[in-house]
Amino acid sequence: MSIVAIIVPLAAVTIYCDTLRQIPGPFIARWTPLWLGYQAWMGRCYLAIDMKYGPVVRIAPTHFSVAHPDAVGIVYGHSHGGELTFDKSQFYDAFVAGTPSVFSTTNRKDHAYKRRIVSQAFSYRALEQFSPFIQTNVATFVSKLDSMCEKEGSIDLLKWFNYLTFDILSDLAFGEPLGMLATGTSVVSAQQTDGTVKKEDAIALVDKREHISAVLGISPWFPWLARILPDPFYSSGRESATGLADFARRNVWKRLNSGAHREDILGKLIAARESEVDTEMIKELVAETVTLLSAGSDTTASSLTALIYFVKTHPQIHRKLTAELKQVIDQEDIPTHTQVKKLEYLRVVINEGLRHYATMATGFPELCLRGGGTFFGQNLPAGTEISVPAFTIQHHDSIWGDPDVFRPERWLESPEKRKYLSRYLLTFGKGPRACVSAHTNHIMIGLACMETQLILATVIHRYNIELESDHLDSTEGFVHKTKHLLVKLSRKF
Ligand code: HEM
Repeated sequence: MSIVAIIVPLAAVTIYCDTLRQIPGPFIARWTPLWLGYQAWMGRCYLAIDMKYGPVVRIAPTHFSVAHPDAVGIVYGHSHGGELTFDKSQFYDAFVAGTPSVFSTTNRKDHAYKRRIVSQAFSYRALEQFSPFIQTNVATFVSKLDSMCEKEGSIDLLKWFNYLTFDILSDLAFGEPLGMLATGTSVVSAQQTDGTVKKEDAIALVDKREHISAVLGISPWFPWLARILPDPFYSSGRESATGLADFARRNVWKRLNSGAHREDILGKLIAARESEVDTEMIKELVAETVTLLSAGSDTTASSLTALIYFVKTHPQIHRKLTAELKQVIDQEDIPTHTQVKKLEYLRVVINEGLRHYATMATGFPELCLRGGGTFFGQNLPAGTEISVPAFTIQHHDSIWGDPDVFRPERWLESPEKRKYLSRYLLTFGKGPRACVSAHTNHIMIGLACMETQLILATVIHRYNIELESDHLDSTEGFVHKTKHLLVKLSRKF
């Protein structure tokens, strides 16, 4: 019997039994998750899942992307709409480093417990205590940039934003900065258990781990496939996942062995557990610190890079922002967060930049639970994955009117309009799984907002910036990352 004689009837039966066949999407995506896997591997999911098929698109056999404003509240809301209930999907299993962290836990109840603990490290009071650590790292960053102003040649701002956000996070998570700013490199030395010192590129570890997880999470059989594929993307990705966990474990141990008590993230994660440090707790601390390093470094650095690019390519906005900063910051000073946190124009420039660029551009997959239900006219069985694509929603004509224009003023038209637009700003996620470090509805609070406000204000206030890159190059791992931003800097004062 020829192979055709097997495949044709098999395909006919599959199509006949496929109750979701009327939902449009790339033809191959009906049959296999390979289409989505390929887009993720190429770093362009957010561009591939666009509106060309309409708002509801089948992007894998059991995964639907719904780019409709009403879907945001239903899929990510605190209380889900109608008969449908969702949990994070098995996609997040690929991000588990030994023990699930608050980010990679899929079960709602387990998540609520972890979230309660982690939230204590990000309370308003905690942020005030972090402020001096952040300020010290920003001062080191400024002295580095100051010294580079005097030299010829261009500076890759993304690189320096990455060093700064990494140093801030490692300072808060491990008790001391990794020293990337001081050494001007992301290759850091880490002491092994046998006393030897290993050199590791911490930023590359985070980058690779995030990208490989975003690909492998798409299908439960991708991790098996990856084991037999000769592509070094997979083997080096796997190594980086274990490398990052080892790296975090060593740094957690180093801090614990030092006996230091410090009001930082690690200190607060330990205090919130109200028990003695044991092996189980170490595993959890490692999982959370890996998450924090990944979730909080390149996200903030890429957002800052995009913001500088948008501000610099819109001279009127640049002038207005500079004037606002001048009112509260003395000429030579590095601002404090207290000085800049209430600046309204700074806040809406950030909101608009995060919307336009979409640091988290992809749709976060949720799993439809308990018997499924009707969703946008489709009867979805339990086990279906649904995601709402963030970039597409943040560029949806019906919400934004002129989505491709960078226009911070849209956030200032009225309090009602701002509230309405905030509902569709998905950069920090929404609902119970939203970013632990940001809340942007009306006021900006949280570590991510604090860092973004402070660093953007510092750079815009202090330096003349001449863009050398003529466009913003980016790619997508899990995070939508800028690739570089070449500039020439000189001091204003
Ligand atoms: C501009 C910077 C940032 C952006 C755009 C961002 C974005 C996000 C988004 C979209 C999510 C939800 C992901 C999902 O549902 O799959 C998330 C979750 C999370 N983020 Fe952020 N983030 C940023 C900075 C930070 C920082 C600085 C930290 C902490 C140091 C952090 C810690 C976390 C954690 C722990 C979660 C998991 C929350 C949970 O599942 O309950 N993020 N972030």
